[in-house]
Amino acid sequence: MDKIIIRGGKPLSGTIQISGAKNAALTLLPCALLTDEPLTLRNLPRLADIDGFQHLMTQFGVSTTIAGSRPEDFGRVMTLEATRITSSTAPYDLVRKMRASILVLGPMLARMGGATVSLPGGCAIGNRPIDLHLKVLEALGAQIELAAGYVRAIAPDGGLPGGRYAFPVVSVGATENALMAAATATGKSTLHNAAREPEIVDLCNLLVAMGAEIEGIGSSDLTIHGVPRLHGATYRVMPDRIEAGSYACAAAITGGSVHLAGARIEEMDATVGALRDAGVHVEPVRGGIDVAADGPLRPVTISTAPYPGFATDMQAQLMAMLCLAEGSSVLTETIFENRYMHVPELNRMGAHIETKGRTAIVNGVSKLSGAEVMATDLRASMSLVIAGLAAEGETVVHRLYHLDRGYERLEEKLSGVGADIERVGSD
Ligand code: UD1
Repeated sequence: MDKIIIRGGKPLSGTIQISGAKNAALTLLPCALLTDEPLTLRNLPRLADIDGFQHLMTQFGVSTTIAGSRPEDFGRVMTLEATRITSSTAPYDLVRKMRASILVLGPMLARMGGATVSLPGGCAIGNRPIDLHLKVLEALGAQIELAAGYVRAIAPDGGLPGGRYAFPVVSVGATENALMAAATATGKSTLHNAAREPEIVDLCNLLVAMGAEIEGIGSSDLTIHGVPRLHGATYRVMPDRIEAGSYACAAAITGGSVHLAGARIEEMDATVGALRDAGVHVEPVRGGIDVAADGPLRPVTISTAPYPGFATDMQAQLMAMLCLAEGSSVLTETIFENRYMHVPELNRMGAHIETKGRTAIVNGVSKLSGAEVMATDLRASMSLVIAGLAAEGETVVHRLYHLDRGYERLEEKLSGVGADIERVGSD
């Protein structure tokens, strides 16, 4: 298995190109199931999760072609064509590896009147149930059956009627499934306390480009007027705000200065706020964002929350950066119950972090030291890379498949701004 070796201590300097957003791409891809016309997605990141989703779509009989990009370019253009759907089952093996597979349930209900999807099971960052996906689809008129580890959703003859649902907890994935299912319902649907992450706005914008009628885009109250059919479209995936935030933390912890090309500051308010509170300079400039750190980092107190709050997907990376702040930071994780798996690894690198339930107290230290580390999820792995960039000596990060799920050509982007980082095959 490959590993990454980082020799820390080099301030990052230069331009990092921000890729298309993984989490947006994973909800735009299943939209291809909603129409028999081609859907072309531009700026799709080259990531293991995207390849996995492409595989799932092929399993349903969707043809996928990749065109127009050279290997040295970031991003790809993919055209998906669901002229005929030949299967309506997402098997355990695919869903287990990629939770986002559950996002085929809504569009398959809409287009085929039914789908069978394996229950995803547990995952490293908590239980992650799918009850809200099922409840909202039921509210839109689907009949749900659970058997033998699979969920089967069936629409009445004539299609989903649509309906009203108020989410008891904000859920990104359940909101996405509901939007896709409701787009071609025979009636109107209303979603209250819906997620309003920028990736949800990206999904709404694509659905509208395909002919959907949605009111309240960007708010937590969405009204979807079902239309008889959707058509094809060409759409550019939004930039990855979590990738941009991660590289901002990387630049800051090294006392560096980088330009994040393509990043959109208006979608990153909470991250930018936390970085500025920590004394990092973050400025919108033409074509992206400039990030620079020239003095000591200050501690911050922050809780994760649904958008526009501070993203749970940025918690581990901010924590890594705060390990070197002058004072104690307090981070509270409110979204997932088991999202501090990077803490023992950061402590092995010399950090001084204590956790109590959902709160982590990060007592700043004056230096980190390189170590062999590994993490059990994507953002936790990135936090170890960030720590390694500032640590004295050599850090070896194992289990790279997590990073490959979510960071397009990480070592290339970081070495391009002066980091001493390489990927090697391990024995
Ligand atoms: C998405 C993101 C993930 C991010 C998360 C929160 C993708 C592919 N993944 O995950 O990177 O960390 O949003 O911003 O976009 N919940 C339930 N029942 C459900 C669904 C969710 O109780 O049916 C709970 C979850 O356990 C969690 C909270 O709701 O505590 C939020 O989860 P949700 O927003 O659904 O996360 P995902 O869509 O899975």
